[in-house]
Amino acid sequence: MSTMDPKEFRNALGQFATGVTVITTTDEERAPVGVTASSFNSVSLDPPLVLWSLAKNSGSLTAYQNSGHFCVHVLASDHQDLSQRFAARGTDKFAGLQWQAGEGGVPLLPDFAAQFQCKTTYQYEGGDHVIFVGEVLQYETRDEKPLVFHAGSYATAKAKAQGEPAGQAVDVTQGKFSNNFFLYLLSRAHFQASADLNRHLQDELLNQSDYLTVTLLGLSGPLSYQDLSERLQHTGHVPSPGTIKILQDRSLITETPDGAQFALTVKGRELHVKLLAVSKATEERLLANFADDEVAEARAFLQRFIEQSDPGVPPLWAAEESK
Ligand SMILES: Cc1cc2nc3c(=O)[nH]c(=O)nc-3n(C[C@H](O)[C@H](O)[C@H](O)COP(=O)(O)O)c2cc1C
Repeated sequence: MSTMDPKEFRNALGQFATGVTVITTTDEERAPVGVTASSFNSVSLDPPLVLWSLAKNSGSLTAYQNSGHFCVHVLASDHQDLSQRFAARGTDKFAGLQWQAGEGGVPLLPDFAAQFQCKTTYQYEGGDHVIFVGEVLQYETRDEKPLVFHAGSYATAKAKAQGEPAGQAVDVTQGKFSNNFFLYLLSRAHFQASADLNRHLQDELLNQSDYLTVTLLGLSGPLSYQDLSERLQHTGHVPSPGTIKILQDRSLITETPDGAQFALTVKGRELHVKLLAVSKATEERLLANFADDEVAEARAFLQRFIEQSDPGVPPLWAAEESK
């Protein structure tokens, strides 16, 4: 018996990031069998050999020992559900799945980043696992990002950016910055993404200050003039008393009955909803060009960036809690 702490040992092994595969075969009744395995690895190019290992307590062990063939499906980043399905015990793992018989009658799943159909060539004792080595008879790859497993969690693989170091993106002595200057990238992205909205603002004869006042009142009105000014300070577009008067004259905003705050009128609310729809449509159009996990990462980054440059005003969407 080893004196190692099994949990610590497992955690240490989990530091080795791997891909995730589903490996299929058939049992003695030719029924489909499959397990999720991260122990897959390449062995030899000539002859083409791969290996993986299966726990001896797996209900599927005898099928892999006896069938003579297996098929490795390397999962893509959006195949987490497949990984979970084939890691479950005591369920019909193939329920509702479309599969075809490949080499040796082994089930071929439709979804994969790479697929290796193998003939089982060697089996080795490996403690509480059996190690299977297979000769690759056929393989197929697709242009998909792989699913990664690291420290007990699913992850995605991302090439490390080879960007210019932050300090070199700006040369103050020469009065120059490069395409890598972060604040340039941020503001260019902002200006380009605002182009649709700005066109609508021009059509409605609204300037930035009008727009921000209507939006802020739409999301968290009614607000006093002082609140409006404080909350819009960081934008550089605090509404002047003249701006407020023009918005009132245009029947977009109105004073509350006690005269202490401003709120949107019905016409103002309609405008707010229309402008919000323009922004939403722009967001959908632009984000459709990016993968879900890229967008989630960018959102998380921008939220942290906003925290770092926070002038102390609550965000628009936190208006309810701050009132
Ligand atoms: C990401 C991931 C990787 C896994 N890798 C392996 C592995 O390499 N070998 C293994 O025996 N079990 C591995 N498992 C657990 C098996 O998938 C699971 O025990 C097996 O599917 C149980 O089903 P069975 O009893 O029907 O064989 C892994 C599970 C997950 C979620």
